[in-house]
Amino acid sequence: MTFTAPITLPGLALDVQWYRRAVFYEVLVRSFADSNGDGIGDLPGLIGKLDYLQWLGIDALWLPPIFPSPGRDGGYDVSDYAGIAAEYGTLDDFRDLVRQAHQRNMRIIIDLPLNHTSDQHAWFQAARAEPDGPFGDFYVWSDDDERWPDIRIIFSDTETSNWAFDEKRRQYYFHRFFSHQPDLNYNSPAVHHAVHEVVRFWLDLGVDGFRLDAIPYLYESDEGNGEGEPQTHEFLRQLRRMVDRDYPGRVMLAEANQWPREVAAFFGSEEEPECHMAFDFPVMPRIFYALRSQRVDDLVDVLSETTDVPPGAGWGVFLRNHDELSLEMVNEEVRQAMYGWYAYDDRMRINVGIRRRLAPLLDNARAELELAHALLFSLPGAPFVYYGDEIGMGDNIWLDDRDSSRTPMQWTPDRNAGFSTADPGKLHLPVVQSLVFDYRNVNVESQLAQSRSLLHWVRNVVYVRKAHPVLGLGGLAVVPTSSPSVLAFVRQSAGPPAAAPAVETTDAILCVFNFAQNPLAVTLSLGEWAGRPLVDVFGGAAFPAVPDDGRLTLTLGTQTFYWLAVR
Ligand code: BGC
Repeated sequence: MTFTAPITLPGLALDVQWYRRAVFYEVLVRSFADSNGDGIGDLPGLIGKLDYLQWLGIDALWLPPIFPSPGRDGGYDVSDYAGIAAEYGTLDDFRDLVRQAHQRNMRIIIDLPLNHTSDQHAWFQAARAEPDGPFGDFYVWSDDDERWPDIRIIFSDTETSNWAFDEKRRQYYFHRFFSHQPDLNYNSPAVHHAVHEVVRFWLDLGVDGFRLDAIPYLYESDEGNGEGEPQTHEFLRQLRRMVDRDYPGRVMLAEANQWPREVAAFFGSEEEPECHMAFDFPVMPRIFYALRSQRVDDLVDVLSETTDVPPGAGWGVFLRNHDELSLEMVNEEVRQAMYGWYAYDDRMRINVGIRRRLAPLLDNARAELELAHALLFSLPGAPFVYYGDEIGMGDNIWLDDRDSSRTPMQWTPDRNAGFSTADPGKLHLPVVQSLVFDYRNVNVESQLAQSRSLLHWVRNVVYVRKAHPVLGLGGLAVVPTSSPSVLAFVRQSAGPPAAAPAVETTDAILCVFNFAQNPLAVTLSLGEWAGRPLVDVFGGAAFPAVPDDGRLTLTLGTQTFYWLAVR
């Protein structure tokens, strides 16, 4: 198959900071849409759903790994970086996806697990067979399993050590994740070269960027804990220089599940940038904590700490993704409280986290789903929606590992939820049929038919957010409130955006969220904004102006919020 149309449109290339205003959607190709009836989602299936995603207002898709893989870790165990897993289609299908997405003004970023490969990768097989051969030092080998005892075990439910013995080479190899995922050795210049080649291969195919999977773990050292070592940052600076020089406008997104300051380190500095974006891991669990504790102090602390990022860099904010809801970035007291609230059944827990989807976590409570989304869409950075959360899809905790929340997308009330025409027994995972979340109740088609459905509500918020670029580009200033249950902040422009948006802009938006499970009145201290009129951005209704003393009293219903433009 040949293509004549360009796969990168000139218009897309002009806005090099597109990612700061974009709304992203994480789509598991395997579970989204099956075009050939084999029970597994594929690239042509996804292409067939691009119109839906465009309608929803999505600007960019993040595709978890689609490379050939034994599939023992959802594709994060890559056995060939230069291909597409046969069940998903071909490289030509991928080119078609990029072209068709770009025609809709949508971008595609792909996941790139660079810390490790599958043990089935040809590099690892060669390293086992020929220690002195060209791939001999591609992985981290040792004669014993004693080195780096301080490096923590991430998959603590399945692994007891970060070392595994290879019978063939008669040595141990290092692995931060599953033992079938040997870590690449970044001390080898040949590994740098190979990784740069992989990055170029996909950028040449037209992808708009990468999620850099597990990026803190590239290097280990005797002094450090193997997370964000100085050499890892140096590697990222080099990679960034290459990407910005040869592929301007493409992004590197860091997956670094770390404390605020450590995550922010993955942005680098203005002079020496690293990643364009980083997921905001610290803020995410605190949203869930606030919903149950009805207290926002932790959220306020973390928001105050994480807002300073170098110019041009941006956070990726999310509520849920394909992994467990990680509780690594909270203290033990908060963790135990969250297990009690959200993972009361042992089956819901995995590693240091909770393997459930958004709607079941929030007990399918519409007010909570709206509050959580309103916060997601008003925090600094680009919001990431996990496929199916826009319709409040459920999960299946009887499935293994994180498959609990990777079940097929629910499109219709028909066979296999419209995901596939296969015999239901052939689906790679069963569709959800639980009492509350059965696909015959929860699906795109039925929500399209209900004007007040969650799907229409989410779409509306997406569009309102996009109409106010300050929500993507502006800074955040926390506003003191009289209630421990109310979070308030102002999103405010720091000056003209790097690429002027083609829509009328609002300079500042006051966002107020009531996490209490009852209505209340709250006073906000808005000294800087004294005398300014306030207008609801959804309906355009005028609210009382901020009084001259800056003390504004608002009433809020149970778990409700306001987004008020400050005129
Ligand atoms: C991915 C996981 C994966 C792990 C190992 C991550 O952080 O999000 O799904 O299991 O990397 O590759």
